[in-house]
Order: sequence, then C-alpha cells, then structure tokens
Amino acid sequence: MADARWVEVSLTVPPELAESVAEVLSRYIPQGVALEQKSIQNQSDENILEPAVRVFAYLLADDALETRKRQIEEALWHLAQIQPLPPATYTPIPNEDWMSSWKKHFQPFAVGKRLVITPAWMRKKAPRHNQIILRIQPGMAFGTGTHPTTQLCLELLEESIRGGEFVIDLGCGTGILAIAALQLGASHALALDNDPAAVQSAEEHALHNHVQDRLTIILGSLKDIYPVGHTPLSDSPSSQRSNRLFNQADLVIVNILSSVILEFLQNGLADLVRPGGHLILSGLLDSQAPEIITAAQSKGLSLTQKRSSQDWVALLFTKA
Ligand SMILES: C[S@@+](CC[C@H](N)C(=O)[O-])C[C@H]1O[C@@H](n2cnc3c(N)ncnc32)[C@H](O)[C@@H]1O
Repeated sequence: MADARWVEVSLTVPPELAESVAEVLSRYIPQGVALEQKSIQNQSDENILEPAVRVFAYLLADDALETRKRQIEEALWHLAQIQPLPPATYTPIPNEDWMSSWKKHFQPFAVGKRLVITPAWMRKKAPRHNQIILRIQPGMAFGTGTHPTTQLCLELLEESIRGGEFVIDLGCGTGILAIAALQLGASHALALDNDPAAVQSAEEHALHNHVQDRLTIILGSLKDIYPVGHTPLSDSPSSQRSNRLFNQADLVIVNILSSVILEFLQNGLADLVRPGGHLILSGLLDSQAPEIITAAQSKGLSLTQKRSSQDWVALLFTKA
C-alpha cells in the first residue's frame, strides 16, 4: 500500500452541531473522527470571533472512496434539513502525511479548571499538576465533550464533587460525565442509557479511563433504578429488581432533552437523590428552564445554580 493516499473530509460547524456531524462521519469512517476546537468570524461583524469545531476524518482513497463520499454526502444532507451545515471539503493527503496530520490537528482541550479532554488513541502523558485527563474516542455515542451542555455539566460536576460520592448519570452516552465524576473523586457511579451503542461506548470508555471497577453501566432508564427503602419506580418482577437496587445518590446528573427530563421529574427522578444531595439537569435551552425549575421545585428540589453557554443552560438543584 506504499502509494495509497488518504482523503481528509472536514467541516467546521458551531459546537452544538459537532456531535451530530461526528456521528454521521463515524458511520462511514469507523477508524475514528477527530474534533478540533476553533474560532470563526461572526457573519455580521468580522471583529467578533465565535467558537466552532472542525470535525474531520480520513477516508482511504481506494475503489470504495466515491461510494463512501456519496453516502456521507447523503447523510449530511439529511442532517442539514434540521440545521444548516457548510459543505464538507475533501482534501487528498499523501500516504506518509496522514498520520502526522491526524495527530497534529486533534489537540486535547480543557473544560472547567482541571478537566482536559484527550483523544483516547493519543499517547499517555503524565497530567500536569491538578489536571484530570478524560480519554474520549469520538464515535457513535453522544458525549465527546464538545457540546455546550456537556461542558456545563462538567463544570458543575467539578464544583460539586467533594470526594466519596455515589453518582447516577442518566442518559450517559459515552459515559463522560460519570467518568469525570469518578476521576474528580466520586467513589462509585451508575451510568444508564437506553441506546445499546451508548452502553457499549460507555463500557469502552470505562476501560480507556481505568474506572471500570467503580462504574456500573446498565442498558435502561429511570424505571430500571430502584432506590433502597423507596417505593420502586417500576413494577418489574422483584427478581429482576433485586439486581438493580441502589442507594439514593449523592449526585444525579441528567443531560437529555427537556421533554424527557420533565417526564423523569414526574416519575420519581427526585427520589433518586438523597436529602442534602444534588441534581444537575442540562440539555435545556434557556427558554425551557422555567418549566423545569417549577417541576423540580414541586418535588422538593431548590435551585442552587443556573449556568449558561450560548443558548443552553444547566441547573444545579439541592434536595431539602
Ligand atoms: C445529550 S446525550 C448526553 C450524553 C452525555 N451524558 C453528555 O452529557 O455528553 C443524551 C443521552 O441520553 C440518552 N437517552 C435519551 N433518552 C433517554 C431515556 N429516556 N432513558 C435513558 N437514556 C436516554 C441518549 O441515548 C443519549 O446517549
């Protein structure tokens, strides 16, 4: 394969679209998709720089190249029907350059004060004083750390974890939030997702980050968690339930759509939090926050902090 060449496919998009574009590319390029934090000029005022993410990957320039390009274009076209996207660019890369190009572009990035998100395939370096490294592989599951809601949750986690907590991450995707909580000092975490691809990704990420002994990962949702000493949230057979009995958590974190969070609040989400414990909710637009705050307050949760990034918010509640 000495004369094989690679084609770099690349799109620079607003941070909230990066995950969806990476997911589309990873369907056709399973070897890995990289994300690079960038700035782009505001369309109406070129003096203003806005955050953006370059999503890119390498296609082998073999006989299947044109077919894969067409599949990628079709999938991006469908995504662009929901949210406008810039066109993808395709740049041939000589064989000997592609690995160094890959490594040069995908740089680790910091979130909050101590967390650093690093591609899982990058060689391990000793973390600098106080730094916490989260090794993430962009792929089929949401949770690479580029989305504003994930970053808001990570910031609130960093400020809330004191050490020794039991944490529940509901809608875990790659498991990034549960893994961050453990790296920050939580003693055990339970991560759930109703998407089998996310569960598989969370299992892989637990291994990449060496937290597999402290992270329980379940394919399921709120109804599959049974807080000890509380009315079961589901009427599943007790044999099944006994495998899934957990203490109430010191911290529960949910980064899903507002409609799902509302449904969870009506179906026992607050029961998972121990008195004095915390609930972090995100995945919400600023305009959706008031309804969520009212629903949470009616379940004995008081709002302790509201944090925003672009149009997104994350809410930190404390249980009375
Ligand atoms: C926005 S992603 C968040 C991923 C990750 N926790 C993060 O913060 O980056 C939401 C995740 O919730 C999962 N999800 C959506 N609805 C769910 C439900 N009803 N029960 C469990 N998981 C759900 C999705 O499969 C997805 O992986």
